[in-house]
Amino acid sequence: MYKMNIRFHETTKTFHLFNDRLSYIICVLENGHLGQLYCGKRIHDKEDFTYLVEKAPRPMTSYVYEGDRTFSLEHIRQEYPVYGSTDYRHPAVEILQENGSRISDFRYVSHTISEGKPLLPGLPATYTEADDEAATLCIALKDPVTQIRLELLYTIFAGEGALARSARLVNEGSLPVHLLTAMSFSLDLPDKDYVWMQLSGAWARERHIKNRPLEQGILAIDSMRGNSSHEHNPFMVLKRPSATETQGEVLGFSLIYSGNYRIQAEVDTHDTTRITVGINPSGFDWKLEPGENFQTPEAVMVYSANGLNDMSQTFHRLYRRRLARGYWRDRPRPILNNNWEATYFDFTEDRLVEIAAKAKECGVELFVLDDGWFGERSNDYAGLGDWFANKDRLPNGIAGLSQRIEALGMKFGLWFEPEMVNKDSDLYRAHPDWILQTPGRRTSHGRNQFVLDFSRKEVVDCIYGMMETILSQSKISYIKWDMNRSITECYSAALPADRQGEVFHRYILGVYDLYERLTSAFPHVLFESCASGGGRFDPGLLYYAPQGWASDDSDAVERLKIQYGTSMCYPISSIGSHVSVCPNHQVFRQTPLHTRANVAYFGTFGYELDLNGLPEEELREVKEQIAFMKEYREILQFGTFYRLKSPFEGNETVWMSVSDDKKTALVGWYRVLNGVNMPYTRVQLQGLNPDMVYTNLRSGTTHYGDELMNLGLLTSDATSGEVPSGEKACGDFESRIYILKAKEC
Ligand code: GLA
Repeated sequence: MYKMNIRFHETTKTFHLFNDRLSYIICVLENGHLGQLYCGKRIHDKEDFTYLVEKAPRPMTSYVYEGDRTFSLEHIRQEYPVYGSTDYRHPAVEILQENGSRISDFRYVSHTISEGKPLLPGLPATYTEADDEAATLCIALKDPVTQIRLELLYTIFAGEGALARSARLVNEGSLPVHLLTAMSFSLDLPDKDYVWMQLSGAWARERHIKNRPLEQGILAIDSMRGNSSHEHNPFMVLKRPSATETQGEVLGFSLIYSGNYRIQAEVDTHDTTRITVGINPSGFDWKLEPGENFQTPEAVMVYSANGLNDMSQTFHRLYRRRLARGYWRDRPRPILNNNWEATYFDFTEDRLVEIAAKAKECGVELFVLDDGWFGERSNDYAGLGDWFANKDRLPNGIAGLSQRIEALGMKFGLWFEPEMVNKDSDLYRAHPDWILQTPGRRTSHGRNQFVLDFSRKEVVDCIYGMMETILSQSKISYIKWDMNRSITECYSAALPADRQGEVFHRYILGVYDLYERLTSAFPHVLFESCASGGGRFDPGLLYYAPQGWASDDSDAVERLKIQYGTSMCYPISSIGSHVSVCPNHQVFRQTPLHTRANVAYFGTFGYELDLNGLPEEELREVKEQIAFMKEYREILQFGTFYRLKSPFEGNETVWMSVSDDKKTALVGWYRVLNGVNMPYTRVQLQGLNPDMVYTNLRSGTTHYGDELMNLGLLTSDATSGEVPSGEKACGDFESRIYILKAKEC
């Protein structure tokens, strides 16, 4: 059925991909390249849109055809621009050839339109479960000189304003070439009237929202660290200056990749905006021998005419249902207790069981043993790479400990950092050449550790072997997969000089390979990705691990910004969020226990502390929190999420999740600092059924959905001044969860 939603008009050589929300129109230009005609809200299909190829003679321009002073690629909006001819902007593809030339000229050859969506071998990508969920257009082009074939894949999803794109280059010639740039996605938009929004920050303050208007020149975010990075998430939004959470045009761009990437907007001299998304060309050089092919990662663009919330919800639906996979994809996530902030490296088997037993008593379902259980690991100088239990601390091994935890009636989870090695380890002593290091250069460390060369199959095999042994011999239900340093001196002893530009990408392919093997061999194990918190929180890993530890910063106030920013692209079910101890270990702030939980509910939820250390009163509260989460986690994690008030714009944050049947809604309200004698406040809700009558379980009052969405939910704080008798005084870092239930349920 959705095959019909990709039309090809033979006479004008025009492709129109469309659904209810989106139209995307491409044509074959007179030189055989692809022109970009329209990307935006759905418009009627018709035979001829070629009037949109605007041409004009302009001074200081280079033209393709002699005798013609109009056709210059510099002034034409394209789909996958090449380097070095009449277009002086940054290209989507640049290929170094045997004779030193970097020019290419990809001309349309043929196309196919099919239902569904093909998998990308070795790479994470969105997928379909039924053919009518999407339609895919594959356009083949060829460069006549090098005989390189370029296949551009476009998938439009039924009913979603989402388009997935990737490129495949096949060397059908007789000489090797070097791919220097091979982007996943390129799009030329006709104007520059956008605000660029990115999710940036640092370790412990990931994915903060930053906005800048576009202007002539280049704006980019990228990573050259070997991971997608804490600094810039591989995601970017262009929004019209007047767009808000609830209205206006926005375009979101997301790369399904975990390594070096670049997302760039180049505004040219005539205000055309070129977006390119893909592997970072800096440091990239992929040798393509005759007969070989190279598949780029996939990029996803979401268009919404209805503001940021709608864009985010589209990403959430697509990534939660058709990027994440496996047993845990649609299942509410277990409430866990992780021992890291409770003990750090200082634990014994009995101590762990003591923490787990208390957690069990409170209702926790999964106990996770973090760093420090293996090899000679008693600090961060030793042990990484030796994935077998430290018998001094765990005399009965992981098998014995996991049995004791299961005997308590809980599941057991374990931390690994598979890609790393300490020099003080058996693995390094046996294979000192297995780390990424450049001959003749100093090899830098990060946290005293070195990066294993995951571009080599024997290295990945060896780590797989150790992990497989532990997993098969013990009762392990969950794995936290960490990655605690960025890559330096990237060079593989196993590759020749002219293939060293491949190492960063081959490394990530090795990571994906290990993930694929483990998730296939242990399909019921829940994987959580982590990289010093959120250093590799990206769509690539979501394909293997349906949740990720969002940040090492577990402070509730800091988490408001981190989780709010993360929600721009990533589903709530993917956001690892825990309650931790006070004073907080990252910012030393004291926040009320209920606020810590009220923030963590909008995520996977768990505890990062030793519950034995809490007074009885707080333990009672913890039990209530866990009971609450069990009752509502399905809605919190899988409902429709709306951002209502931004922590980046004021003292208050508000967000909410609504059940699919709209009968239950949970509103999280958070205030950083208390004020005195403050105004009455209310907040307009979203996503309710206007005709349903909801009971506010907090106040006992009833309201129509339209009342709550238009008039608003009263959030006034009666204690900001005098405290009325019978009420509790609220201080700084206050928060509330409002539960709204439709009357008939
Ligand atoms: C990283 C993780 C933490 C913890 C430590 C253990 O920093 O983000 O959650 O697992 O490593 O060393």
